[in-house]
Amino acid sequence: MAARRGLIARLFGGRERARRDASPSWAPPSVERILALTEGMVEPRESALLHRLARETREGCIVEVGSYRGRSASLLGAGSLAGARRPVYAVDPHAEFRGLLGGEFGPLDREAFYRAMLATGCWRIVRLVNLSSEVVTPRWTEPVGLLFLDGDHSLEGVRRDFGCWREHLLAGARVAFDDASDPELGPWRLIEELVSGGDWRRIEQVGRITVLGRA
Ligand SMILES: C[S@@+](CC[C@H](N)C(=O)[O-])C[C@H]1O[C@@H](n2cnc3c(N)ncnc32)[C@H](O)[C@@H]1O
Repeated sequence: MAARRGLIARLFGGRERARRDASPSWAPPSVERILALTEGMVEPRESALLHRLARETREGCIVEVGSYRGRSASLLGAGSLAGARRPVYAVDPHAEFRGLLGGEFGPLDREAFYRAMLATGCWRIVRLVNLSSEVVTPRWTEPVGLLFLDGDHSLEGVRRDFGCWREHLLAGARVAFDDASDPELGPWRLIEELVSGGDWRRIEQVGRITVLGRA
């Protein structure tokens, strides 16, 4: 019986896992450290913004659409761990995809994503949802306090993603759009529509990221 229990403990790594989670010496990595450990598209100032937005999220969960190799998900995860520890969902199918800016994406990015989670320790709070938003959101139940959109930058793509998550946003939610400064791209055009519609207002702009809140 004891041998069987020992085998089960070894198989499931119970003690090791408990030791890592409870370790008083573990602290979430800094923005600079995440930039050094991960691959991604966001630059230092934008990275600091994502970290701060996640740290300031007190209610609801954090959803990212477009996770690539885990840089922005790690920034959101580390920010959340330094704040109210809201769960972070990283939504990306990691399927073959050619972005409007010429980027080629696919399943190899999933491997790099997992590596980034291990390197940064952000697996503690980031959950990969390896599907597209329209598959996920019809049965979604958790209110969203922060939404970061960085997936398909075509107008129909970003409109679809925003439309999928819209009904799940808390009244005080923030919505951050990457690649929002180029009038040729979907995020810029959707933001213009949302702001001129009167329901949304610009809160801040850092680099290519624009943050909206309800008007
Ligand atoms: C610009 S990259 C994201 C970069 C990432 N946010 C970072 O800075 O670390 C775009 C990502 O969007 C993903 N993508 C494409 N279509 C998507 C969809 N329908 N839902 C979610 N992600 C999608 C691609 O697989 C790719 O990983």
